[in-house]
Amino acid sequence: MKKTIICSTAFALVFGFAVASNSIASDKGPEVMVLTTAKAKKPATFPHKKHQDMMECKECHHTQAADGTQGPYVAGQEHKCETCHDGQKIANKKVDSFMKAAHEKCKGCHKAGHNDKKGPTKCAACHVKK
Ligand code: HEC
Ligand code: HEC
Ligand code: HEC
Ligand code: HEC
Repeated sequence: MKKTIICSTAFALVFGFAVASNSIASDKGPEVMVLTTAKAKKPATFPHKKHQDMMECKECHHTQAADGTQGPYVAGQEHKCETCHDGQKIANKKVDSFMKAAHEKCKGCHKAGHNDKKGPTKCAACHVKK
């Protein structure tokens, strides 16, 4: 009986903290996420906050202009990449799918580096086995 009470109190504490930190960070999106396409063949782990601490939102987020080209970053309009990079809506075949756009953006920067810091390029660095 006593054990059950301690357990549920601990659960409530942990759960409460999770909810609190989520609502504080909600406008910045999740701190860590698992990115995946509709096919979900190779989910990729993405430490979002770690990147937010290193660079501006516009490094990754952007919009679509009326003529179909890439539009500037607009705060509050951080839509899922796949809403546009879905294999059909984007004219540029080099980045038309989520996989191609992600590899171009993520691996591209990791290879070139950002502020003299390179990121990992091996498949397993992002596609971590669950
Ligand atoms: C290094 C790239 C990168 C940077 C920098 C970055 N983000 Fe993100 N963000 C992403 C990716 C990738 C996703 C997931 C998109 C998806 O699910 O398709 C995401 C998701 C989000 C989401 C959730 C969107 C949704 O509809 O699920 C929000 C909100 C967000 N980001 C806000 C921000 C803000 C605000 C900043 C700057 C403080 C920022 N991001 C910086 C890459 C980045
Ligand atoms: C509202 C629609 C939209 C969303 C959401 C979107 N993109 Fe794009 N993206 C575009 C358009 C349009 C282009 C220009 C394509 C072309 O050149 O034909 C583009 C171009 C790109 C390019 C190539 C140019 C460059 O900037 O290097 C990459 C890479 C890219 N997007 C990655 C992403 C990633 C990663 C996300 C999610 C964080 C994302 N996009 C979200 C519409 C979008
Ligand atoms: C503009 C540059 C840039 C972009 C875009 C970018 N990254 Fe990174 N990323 C970095 C750098 C730099 C590091 C190394 C940070 C360090 O060593 O402290 C890194 C580190 C990482 C790590 C390793 C984290 C760790 O704790 O060791 C992962 C995983 C990662 N990035 C995934 C992604 C994914 C997935 C995307 C695309 C959605 C992405 N990155 C987009 C620059 C970038
Ligand atoms: C810097 C991070 C990163 C690296 C390194 C990386 N990928 Fe990816 N990859 C992604 C992201 C982000 C996506 C889009 C979300 C998803 O489906 O996982 C993706 C998507 C994919 C997909 C599509 C999965 C699906 O469900 O449709 C395949 C296949 C893939 N990657 C294979 C590879 C292989 C093979 C390598 C090594 C040669 C590699 N990736 C290296 C980040 C990375």
